Amino acid sequence: MTAKRALITGANSGMGLAATIELAKKGFEVIMVCRNEERGNPALEEAKRQSGSDSISLMTCDLASLDSIRAFSEDFTSRYSVLDVLINNAGVVTIKRETTQDSFEMMLGVNHLGHFLLTNLLLDPLKKSQQGRIINVGSGAHKAGKIDFNNPHLTTGFGIWRGYSQSKLANNLFTVHLSKKLKDTSVTVNCLHPGAVSTAIGVNRQTGFGKSVHAVLRPFFFTPLQGAETAIYLADSPEVTHISGAYFYKKRVTPPSSRAKDERLAEEFWDWSAREVGL
Ligand SMILES: NC(=O)c1ccc[n+]([C@@H]2O[C@H](COP(=O)([O-])OP(=O)(O)OC[C@H]3O[C@@H](n4cnc5c(N)ncnc54)[C@H](OP(=O)(O)O)[C@@H]3O)[C@@H](O)[C@H]2O)c1
Repeated sequence: MTAKRALITGANSGMGLAATIELAKKGFEVIMVCRNEERGNPALEEAKRQSGSDSISLMTCDLASLDSIRAFSEDFTSRYSVLDVLINNAGVVTIKRETTQDSFEMMLGVNHLGHFLLTNLLLDPLKKSQQGRIINVGSGAHKAGKIDFNNPHLTTGFGIWRGYSQSKLANNLFTVHLSKKLKDTSVTVNCLHPGAVSTAIGVNRQTGFGKSVHAVLRPFFFTPLQGAETAIYLADSPEVTHISGAYFYKKRVTPPSSRAKDERLAEEFWDWSAREVGL
């Protein structure tokens, strides 16, 4: 039997790295997608060492650039015809307003729009899998999120929480509408909240902002592996073969906010996202 193939974004750190190691231990072929080789290569070596598997490789893609995502998808589909599991895990929290190469607000751009384009460009290989699975790593932060169609890129009134919660609500809405679009295929798509997890997210590499908050809260947080458990479960478990469009926490279907289930909003937001990325 051929190994199942999983692609994980943001695989060089935190939960992405933990999921890479665990899925490789379970016999998956894992493609780590990282923003560059400098950040990816040490993680690739670490993942191979910890898993004892050689079936792990690195590909680069900057989710803050639509050109990079398109180039990556072309490269991927020229190398591989089948993809069994796509884990849209990469995420960013910025303390001030930053923009992607395409002038999107960074959190909406990377956490949602980048993955939105990537997923759409990888639907063919996912449909060729016996049972393709798309796993969107969302957050309980979606509950505070609103989609501001008049000012989605927060050109005025930027706030960390406002931007992050909007981008995470976007993960739920994307899941809801994509599951509708995929209903006549064997591909499923689900979203999850990993819990509060001790990772590098929100810690600014240049200024160190966020480090002390992190150090204080660390004892109360899940480890990256504990945080990755639901994504690993959704990638590997036969129990979820027929579940699509759901939101999971601690490996169980959990109700998200009422806004996150709003099918009309999900459709309107899909159409907006498609226009933004030029689909
Ligand atoms: N930690 C928590 O408590 C928590 C709670 C709820 C949800 N989440 C979600 O969990 C997911 C994983 O986060 P984490 O906590 O494991 O954080 P993390 O360790 O900071 O991992 C985030 C990953 O995303 C990558 N990334 C960021 N911007 C990128 C870009 N432009 N292109 C490609 N990759 C990019 C990072 O790459 P670099 O290393 O190169 O920056 C890193 O590999 C995120 O979606 C986050 O929103 C986390």
